[in-house]
Amino acid sequence: MTAGGALPADEGAVPGFSPALRWLDTSGERGDGADGPAVVVLDQTRLPAQERDLVCRDVPGLVAAIRSLAVRGAPVLGLAGAYGVALAAARGEDVEAAARLLAEARPTAVNLGFGVRRALAAHRAAADRGSAEAARAALAAARELHREDALASEAMAAEGLRLLRDLLPEPAGEAGGWRLLTHCNTGALVSGGGGTALAVVRAAHRAGLLERLWVDETRPLWQGARLTAWEAGREGMPYAVLADAAAGSLFAAGRVDAVLVGADRIAADGAVANKVGTYPLAVLARHHGVPFVVVAPVSTIDPATPSGAGIVIEEREGDEVTTARPGVRVAPEGAGAYNPAFDVTPGELVTAVVTERGVMRPPYREGPAAVPPGAGVG
Ligand code: MRU
Repeated sequence: MTAGGALPADEGAVPGFSPALRWLDTSGERGDGADGPAVVVLDQTRLPAQERDLVCRDVPGLVAAIRSLAVRGAPVLGLAGAYGVALAAARGEDVEAAARLLAEARPTAVNLGFGVRRALAAHRAAADRGSAEAARAALAAARELHREDALASEAMAAEGLRLLRDLLPEPAGEAGGWRLLTHCNTGALVSGGGGTALAVVRAAHRAGLLERLWVDETRPLWQGARLTAWEAGREGMPYAVLADAAAGSLFAAGRVDAVLVGADRIAADGAVANKVGTYPLAVLARHHGVPFVVVAPVSTIDPATPSGAGIVIEEREGDEVTTARPGVRVAPEGAGAYNPAFDVTPGELVTAVVTERGVMRPPYREGPAAVPPGAGVG
């Protein structure tokens, strides 16, 4: 199967739907025993060398795809969680148990549990109408979340571009433009639409305002070098990949105008958990007087976690650090390793948080959790 195949008509109605994940149901069409419902993800572990779909036909398969980062990034993890509940329901399995498995697949991105709960609530609400109806309700909830996520990407791109125009001087002259630095991957691969921080960069590029995107390689799993570079190249953006440790000298040389990153969880006090290596960028940005902007949907804000100290940081296997890629060892055999997947940036280092409902700037009067549903904030 090729990546990003045709979407069922009802999903295709939202422009900018991403190739990262889709629902497939070929029940009865193939007759070879391999049909039935599935969650199909573009296998991000293979990018950029191969564009291959991974077909998850059951919840354990989807959980494995989440843990291996075949599907990754906060908003799309929410979609994976919601479609996973729909998959369990469609297969007539124990939906409550499947929901628990999915929600626990990775601990840091709040969106995963959010997506699971959305589909589970729809399933529970329809349970008295029979299992087929409850399964349909879970799938409808997942599709609705997918649509909302795609639309949120568009709104964040517009809000983020407006914010950058406020924060940065309009580039002058033919060669001029903004030099934006990003970490990890926050584009269409993490979303039902165009993504978060990278969606803002794309909007700047399309407006002719991007001189260069600085792409942190993002060790240990190279989400920047592999995924952001892949997306930026397909969009025709001018970009350069740098070793994470090279960011400091770029700031010192005055060659970064703003930092744009995503988030996996934003605590009620405004602390931001994102890919490990984000916090040092925020410190550098503050030291050099450069705006540090977080772009995330409202579903990433977690009012239940009062402060950054309460955010659970996923620790991953040490061999991700001691190897350059699976099987290619760099450190000596038996080397110890420290491998937190995320770090926490205190809210006071964040210039602004761009959401689909508006831009928030600290100090937050009541914390970012106070964003009113559907209202522009600022
Ligand atoms: O471990 P990953 O690749 O899932 O980490 C992803 C990130 O840290 C992203 O920056 C984050 O999910 C924001 S994407 C909107």
